[in-house]
Amino acid sequence: MLSLCCILALLASFCPDTSGTTAGVKVKLTQKGLEYGQKIGIPILLKKLKAIDLPEMNGSVGVFLIGRVAYSLTGMKVLNVRLPQSAVGLVPGIGVSLIISDGYIDTDTSKYFLGTFDLSVCGLTITTTITIKSDGTGRPMVRSANCEASLSHARIRLRGGASWLYNMFNGYINKKVRKELQRKICPLVSENIQKINSYMKTLNVLKKIDRYAEIEYGLTESPVVSVSSTELSLKGEFYNIGVHKKPAFAPTPFSLPPNERNMLYMGISAFTANSAGFVYKNAGALRLRITDKMIPRAFPYRLNTKTFEALIPQIAKQYPNMMMKLLVKAATAPTVTFAPNNVTLQANTTVTVYAIQPNTTLTTLFILNVVGNKGQNKGRWLGSLTFNDHINLNLGTSYIGPFKVKPLASFLQIMLKIVIPHVNVILQRGFPLPNIANISLVKPRLVIMKDYVLIGTDVQFKP
Ligand SMILES: *[C@@H]1O[C@H](CO)[C@@H](O)[C@H](O)[C@H]1NC(C)=O
Ligand SMILES: *[C@@H]1O[C@H](CO)[C@@H](O)[C@H](O)[C@H]1NC(C)=O
Ligand SMILES: *[C@@H]1O[C@H](CO)[C@@H](O)[C@H](O)[C@H]1NC(C)=O
Ligand SMILES: *[C@@H]1O[C@H](CO)[C@@H](O)[C@H](O)[C@H]1NC(C)=O
Ligand SMILES: *[C@@H]1O[C@H](CO)[C@@H](O)[C@H](O)[C@H]1NC(C)=O
Repeated sequence: MLSLCCILALLASFCPDTSGTTAGVKVKLTQKGLEYGQKIGIPILLKKLKAIDLPEMNGSVGVFLIGRVAYSLTGMKVLNVRLPQSAVGLVPGIGVSLIISDGYIDTDTSKYFLGTFDLSVCGLTITTTITIKSDGTGRPMVRSANCEASLSHARIRLRGGASWLYNMFNGYINKKVRKELQRKICPLVSENIQKINSYMKTLNVLKKIDRYAEIEYGLTESPVVSVSSTELSLKGEFYNIGVHKKPAFAPTPFSLPPNERNMLYMGISAFTANSAGFVYKNAGALRLRITDKMIPRAFPYRLNTKTFEALIPQIAKQYPNMMMKLLVKAATAPTVTFAPNNVTLQANTTVTVYAIQPNTTLTTLFILNVVGNKGQNKGRWLGSLTFNDHINLNLGTSYIGPFKVKPLASFLQIMLKIVIPHVNVILQRGFPLPNIANISLVKPRLVIMKDYVLIGTDVQFKP
């Protein structure tokens, strides 16, 4: 149960109030996910119940013909707890219900002042509803509501001394033990659910991705619980570290499809991807140096001034026998568009072409603008890019006099093909999914939808 809440809670890491804004990321936990949470949560609850402090029971009872008899039961330790049956369900508009039934608890043999005793209780039933809300700071808040615990039977066995006497009012003590235990269980449940909240409050408000960027995952509204799932709407916006500049675009509202085959679904909007592009562009991180080392050995052309002889004769003349280097830099933030099974990436870049002097000084030869080039990628993993549209080139600045740019296009095409594997290495480090403690994704599947990417996955928890 605790882990179940943990999953809900941790899925939404945590941010200043973002309510009222449109979500960039949506997460849906299905009944199947809930049941998995139950499977890993019940053992944790068992552990907590095992550590429960059983109440000391002192009192006195009037016994027919004998008068008042004092009793004192102390030092009881839980030996064994079983919770063989439990069920979780969704309560639309409220949260999650948890019903545990047929549980039993045995205690270790304890001493009382006349001898020893054992206690066992069975027919333990706990029912509670866990409400899930946003706490107003973008974090989810869980609370145990309507908790009820009951025990149908308690059996106490007293041995030694005048135990025959006490066994006479066994029924009375049983009732008292049951009442005491019942009183104790719901606060225990509630306290442990409360602990989840205090844990969440200590978590970082923003998730740092690298030295350039952080992402905000705060809830934009309270989680929506329906008959079949719980859905969280998260901000999902990238920022430059410490600088929360708003991009000129806003999220397009989207809703997740009604799939329920997997435990978890996550929708990542084009807005979230584009806010990343905006941030990395602002940080000057969208740049790639292309050197001769990146060109395969077997390739007939090297990145040197001799290769350019035919295309731009003055290069070879002014800078004979020199290696060259290219710097590809985003000129505008790249934008991505998601359509069913279709990702379109648009980016304007500049390519600065250098000659490398024998003393390693770089001399700028010219700067090219590469406008609106498109990479389309039908239904493939987001992190692999191919270019198949033509490239629109124009000369930005030339330090070597005028020359025809058009013939360079095919050369650049080849260069881009060479560097794409390098770009893909960067992209395949992957999109930073919300960090969920010790939970890994099992067989995630990715589908490109209109305006967002849908990831359906099962999860595995390793404590
Ligand atoms: C119950 O009685 C025992 C023994 O007389 C004593 O040690 C203990 O403090 C008492 N506990 C309470 C809660 O009164
Ligand atoms: C992919 O999307 C782009 C822009 O959204 C569109 O121009 C193109 O025709 C689409 N391609 C396919 C194969 O659907
Ligand atoms: C690229 O540049 C062209 C022309 O300057 C402009 O129309 C286009 O919007 C730019 N594309 C992006 C993605 O910024
Ligand atoms: C390197 O060589 C170039 C060309 O000969 C010269 O202009 C430049 O000053 C040199 N740089 C250094 C650091 O020696
Ligand atoms: C995650 O796993 C580590 C070791 O595997 C463990 O120390 C830690 O307590 C676990 N965290 C949670 C939240 O279960």
